[in-house]
Amino acid sequence: MERYKGFACHPTVCPVGNDYHIIVPTNFEMALSVLVDGEEYFNHSNGIVLTSCPIQQITVPAARLDAAREYTLRVRRVIKRMPYGTLTGRPVKITYPFRPIEKTEGIRLYQIADSHGIVEESVAAAKRFGEPLDLLVLNGDIADSSENIERITTTYKIASAVTGGEIPCVISRGNHDLRGAAAEHLAEYMPNQNGRSYYSFRVGCLWGLLVDCGEDKPDDHREYGHMVCCHAFRREESAYIRQVIAQKQNEYEAEGVKYRLVISHAPFAWTDHPPFDIEQELFAEWCRLLKAEVKPHLMLCGHIHNQIISPVGGELDHKGQPCPVLVGTKVDRRARPPYYAGMGLTLQRDSAEVVFNTKDEIRLTQTVPYSAE
Ligand SMILES: [Fe+2]
Repeated sequence: MERYKGFACHPTVCPVGNDYHIIVPTNFEMALSVLVDGEEYFNHSNGIVLTSCPIQQITVPAARLDAAREYTLRVRRVIKRMPYGTLTGRPVKITYPFRPIEKTEGIRLYQIADSHGIVEESVAAAKRFGEPLDLLVLNGDIADSSENIERITTTYKIASAVTGGEIPCVISRGNHDLRGAAAEHLAEYMPNQNGRSYYSFRVGCLWGLLVDCGEDKPDDHREYGHMVCCHAFRREESAYIRQVIAQKQNEYEAEGVKYRLVISHAPFAWTDHPPFDIEQELFAEWCRLLKAEVKPHLMLCGHIHNQIISPVGGELDHKGQPCPVLVGTKVDRRARPPYYAGMGLTLQRDSAEVVFNTKDEIRLTQTVPYSAE
């Protein structure tokens, strides 16, 4: 589909809770709304349409878009915003088809993590995994930092090239995403639930929990220059995980849920060497809660720039893995052209077929059984 000139790339449709957030980086100031089955949804703050944000985000109910199988973006370019009679261009409408997850077996998803700005090779790796793709997972550190809007937009450019705005895309935050002057706007520019970067989501029969470990060293590390408070953030997240468990009938035990995934940039059941050996007690508690209550089928991770399948008790299990952990990235930024390998998954009833691949080769194919319940 041809891209509208006012958009920096195609929209990205991100599942958050029982909604989708439709996110579009833009090339000029606009009033943007989304029409789904005759209902119009806006990017607004208490009734005021937001036009100056370079990345627009609009929430629509997932059930409604799943049923409609298409959405229309309505653009009004802002020529001059004034207290009376704001001048706007003629409205433009762009319609995208949307393919929700309806099957219950053979669900195909691809994970890109730690691409650190390598766009072409990571997109080509996802495409090599092949069609039809049902879900894209961008699992953090897609750009090298959040130094400016362009860097943050890298995530959406990759999503655009792989999904074309036509299938859902889960976006998590990696530790490098917390760095840089534009990072303080991440909650505005990335999918979030009431400003939180950790939340559960639902796509078809798949329930997921996005877990955000934040930075990977102690908050007082000199690299951060007093710009992070991730310990306090993680404690709030612990309370959220408990809240999800308390409401399990509406979460992972809800009607129709067949697969439970945990998606976390960092494989937090593993303990790295100092100064990366943070939060051992708190992360062990997350593992314990997930194992005892949520009983995930799989945990998908990146961060350590390696491709490892770690079953319960495996090489990444230092704190009590709740389920098999799949770490799915190999990356070499210095190679010319850059080297990037990602991970494809096909979810079957009792196991997942895992593929590690680059744009040119399949590095490994393995069947991974889910944890015995
Ligand atoms: Fe990372």
